[in-house]
Order: sequence, then C-alpha cells, then structure tokens
Amino acid sequence: MMFLRSLQPIASCSRSASRILPPVAARGPRLTRFVTTRTTPYHINGQTYPLDDHSNVPPTILAKLDRNLHLNPSHPISILRSIIESHFSTFTPVTPSSPILTVTQNFDDLGFTPDHPGRALSDSYYLNKNHVLRTHTSAHEIETYQKGLNQWLLTADVYRRDEIDSSHYPVFHQMEGASVWPSSELYKLPQMNAELASKLAECPLIIEDTSSISPENPYQKSHDPEHAAQITQHLKHSLNSLIFRLFGPIATKDGEPLRIRWIDAYFPFTSPSFEVEVWWDGDWLELLGSGVMQQPLLNRAGVPDKSGWAFGLGLERLCMVLFSIPDIRLFWTEDPRFISQFTPGQITPFKPYSKYPPVTRDVSFWIPDASKKGVTQWHENDYCEIVRDVAGDLVETVQLIDEFTHPKTGRRSKTYRLTYRSMDRNLLNDEISGLQSEVERRTISEMGIEIR
Ligand code: DAH
Repeated sequence: MMFLRSLQPIASCSRSASRILPPVAARGPRLTRFVTTRTTPYHINGQTYPLDDHSNVPPTILAKLDRNLHLNPSHPISILRSIIESHFSTFTPVTPSSPILTVTQNFDDLGFTPDHPGRALSDSYYLNKNHVLRTHTSAHEIETYQKGLNQWLLTADVYRRDEIDSSHYPVFHQMEGASVWPSSELYKLPQMNAELASKLAECPLIIEDTSSISPENPYQKSHDPEHAAQITQHLKHSLNSLIFRLFGPIATKDGEPLRIRWIDAYFPFTSPSFEVEVWWDGDWLELLGSGVMQQPLLNRAGVPDKSGWAFGLGLERLCMVLFSIPDIRLFWTEDPRFISQFTPGQITPFKPYSKYPPVTRDVSFWIPDASKKGVTQWHENDYCEIVRDVAGDLVETVQLIDEFTHPKTGRRSKTYRLTYRSMDRNLLNDEISGLQSEVERRTISEMGIEIR
C-alpha cells in the first residue's frame, strides 16, 4: 500500500521490494466512491465531521479510537514502548492526543505527491475529504519539531485499510523516533559515533549494509556531505544498538551472532532513506523505515538551523515476534487471560490459553464491471472492510482461493475462503451462517457483486 505497508507486522520481502520505489502516477490514488452506510456526520470528542464522498470510516474502526493499548502498562505494545524508551533514555516520550489529522498534516506537509497511492480511499480511512485517521506517526514530525524537541520518541495508533489475515489489522501502533541537532552541535557527531561504534563492536552482531549513497538515494544538496555522512552514521549506530537490545538476548542464545541488514528505500520526507531488517527464524524480517530528515520539512517546522534523522517502526510486528503472539487480533482482546499474562517492563512468551476451532465458508461471485458508467472498481480492501464491519474480530482470514475470467462474457469471478475463529470462545455454526449471510447481503447491495 502506501509508503511502508511493511510496518504492519510480517510482510514478505518480495512485497517490500516494491515499496521502496518512488510512487508512480499510474498507481495513483483511487478516489472512487466507497462509503459506509452511515448517514449522519461523525461526532468525535466534541467535534463534528460532515460526511462527503470520502467518508469511509466504519463503526468497528471508530470503536478503536479510545482503546489506547499503548498506554496500558501491562499490554505488550506498551511494554515494548517502555523498553525502547528506556533504551533511548535521553529522548522525550511523546503521546499525540488525537488520531484525527488533516490531510495536509498526514500527507501534504510530508511531501506526499497528490497522486501518491497512500492517499487512496482503498488504503486510508477518511472522515471526509479534509480529515483522515493518521496512517503513520511521521504525520506528527512537524508539530514535534515545532515544540522545540530535538530527541523524541512518539507512540500512537495508526489506521490503514487492509486485507485480513493473522498479521494484518486495520489499526496498529507505530513508534516514531528522531534526533536532530542545531548546526552548532554537529561537530560533536564524530566523537559520539566513535563511542557508539566501540560499544557495538563488543556485541555479537553482523551488520550487512547493502545501502549506498547514489543519485537514487542521495545526500541532500543543502547538506554538507560530511555532516550528512555523520548523521547517517549516527542513525545506523543508534538503530543497530536498539535492535541488538531487543533481539540480541533471544537471537544469540545459541551462540550465533544477530544479523541486521540495511537496504536503500524511498520516503518522501527523508533522503537518504533506508529500511532495516533482522534475520529471524530463517528469514529477513522488515522492522523499520528511516532516513535523514528532508531539510524543507525542518524549515517548515520553524527549525531551519537543525538537521538529523528519524525512524518509524511497527510495534505489533515486533511484539508478535518477541512475545510469540500468533495472531494480531489478540492485542485487541478484552479477555483477561491475555493481559494478565504480562508484566510491565518484561518480555515474556505468550502462553496460548486455548485454540478454538475455526469455521470456514467459501463464497464465489462475479465482480462488477468497472468499465460500465457509475460502477466502482473492485478492491479487495473494500470487501474486507465489509467483512470486518459485520464480523468484527471473529474473522481470522479472508483468502482469495480461486479466480477466473469467463472466456465468452469476459466477466471476472473470484472465490474467497472466509475463516472465522474467536480468540476467546467456541463459535456456533448458526452464528457464522448469520454473519456470512449479512456479508453477502451487504456486498451485493454496496459493491454490486453477483453471487455465483
Ligand atoms: N512513516 C513511514 C511508514 O509508515 C515509516 C518511516 C520511514 C518513518 C522513514 C520515518 C522515516 O521516520 O524516517 O511507512
């Protein structure tokens, strides 16, 4: 999806490869109409947001706005947050107050082009054309620099429309971290880098740095290349040491060093930009996006004399690995058997209290013909949204298991397998049949599908 869909937990490497490319106009936003069935304006925290043809936030998502998992000290998301905060102990922790931002804050101010795919209605939640549920914590960079903070860590819930499986959920948490210095302090960087490098040299760590400064991933013209190189070095050392702090104790248990990989990336608000991966369980796991802040952004924030780096990481992804949490819906369960297992400040493996059996339903349908006037183009995320809206957290996966195009009529058919499973109890067959009929009713009336 957008910039770094990767910061949703667990994405394959092949998926991530396309994400490092700058957006191309052909993949631009799909501003076709997919709205909820809602007819009254949104009223949130005393504010009214009138509906328009962008409004696509369903009640299931609105209900998440005040859950604040990252503020509950016994919740794994919050435990991880505080461990990272204690690692970067000189950084100021920041909690933004509302997930509702203007489109300008979330996209324009960060240099997202008007046709960037991250803006698409299929990928983001809009209250209306001017207000979006924050899609990433980078959206708070400018206001945080405006406060005069130089080293800070900001944690928040972020919202993205998505597919449904055990590692994707439309709400998740990111932590944004940044370190900037006034130009008069940049002379300190070589010394700080030398100290960080000597500490890292003592760690059983293999760093595979495949990134390079190039015309595609350059230092910025307004930066002295020496300074930009020192900032980049400080970014890399700081994040390597954080990753070693988190993964080192578990990864190196069997005597093997921890492997970290740096690769080139693209983000509209950093240059050079990088993604960082860690070798985990036989595969590269994408952890975070980072880079040297675009100077125009700092100028806009009123701190033109400062320069530095930033990173953004997905907390669910890290928690799932570090706490052995098998399904992302568990973060949202209100079953006390989940939360009572965890202790503030400690990473402990999750003990499944029970695995309840799944109930599956297959459904085949013709998708609407978008070449016809007034017909909205099919998007799987719209389908998943209706499924979530109807079934909430009872839906575990929505999998495309078959598709074909009719040779004569040219009509396209898709078959999906919907797997329902509760995290906390057994499901009744009748209950699922009711949900499934409602999904079908709504997808027929709202998306124009035709059941086969
Ligand atoms: N906001 C980006 C995303 O969600 C992640 C990111 C990339 C954050 C680079 C940063 C950064 O601070 O420097 O995909």
